[in-house]
Amino acid sequence: MPTITPIDATFGARITDIRLGALSDADWKLVEAAFNEYGALVFPEQHLTDEEHIAFCERFGPIELLRGDGEKAARISNKRAGGGVMTPEEKRFQALRGNEGWHTDSSYMPLAAKASALAAEITPPSGGETELADMRAAYDALDDAMRTRIADLSAYHSLYQSQAKAGFTFKTGDGYGYHTEGAPLRPLVKTHPATGRKSLFIGRHAFRIPGMEDAEALELLDGLLEFACQAPRTYAHSWTPGDLMIWDNRCILHRACPYDYNEPRVMRHVRVAGDPATETAPTGRDERADAFQPSAATA
Ligand code: OGA
Ligand code: MN
Repeated sequence: MPTITPIDATFGARITDIRLGALSDADWKLVEAAFNEYGALVFPEQHLTDEEHIAFCERFGPIELLRGDGEKAARISNKRAGGGVMTPEEKRFQALRGNEGWHTDSSYMPLAAKASALAAEITPPSGGETELADMRAAYDALDDAMRTRIADLSAYHSLYQSQAKAGFTFKTGDGYGYHTEGAPLRPLVKTHPATGRKSLFIGRHAFRIPGMEDAEALELLDGLLEFACQAPRTYAHSWTPGDLMIWDNRCILHRACPYDYNEPRVMRHVRVAGDPATETAPTGRDERADAFQPSAATA
């Protein structure tokens, strides 16, 4: 029988005595229920192959492809194919550094992600943790005035904007994500489709609130993020090769932690697509389409 041990935070559990590579239907039922209850699950010592990792994720739903080549498993890695590690100038390295800001995956796409499962292959000697934060508990911790203030607000989400804000270049036309062609508009308060629990739906990709001045929106979004991502609502996972961690992008934020970038770090990522019935957002130009441009940092 699998053993479920809650993590010392408002969310998250570790599940042991289970083999994800040969999951029975009974164990899947237990995993699915735990996923909805805890929001994030850590499975030590799994050492899955790509195929096993993908098959496990397909229990949750169809896989979201992160690249055009049809591969369901992506390497999140600073290692170059030809040997050595990436330099800070490389766009792919900048994408990795962008991951160090709190975010939820694919919120900048018309269909946001349901879940993401990371597995560690090569870990640096220190650092390189993945941190998670519970947006259900964050919503619960807001005072009534703030809940009322944000109840009917939505924000545009854009990868171009978030990379620009982090000081990196990522322009419209790079072929992934939306910006001038219309970014998804998503409510700040999300009701979980399986549990009915409310959570804050924010993160680095959220950048503009219709009906609000940009400076005020930025202050509100940054303030909410700062408040939300605090103990006891956070958990930092220190990776051991073979671990797998899956989180619910609909209510949990995550970020990568820094490490010595001269050391290789190789993670395998499989992303579960959102249910179109609940994770689709309208996309389009807002009423300030002419101002709908990456910040000066992108120039
Ligand atoms: C991701 C991501 C965090 C990490 O793969 O989407 O944010 O720790 N990864 O690598
Ligand atoms: Mn991510």
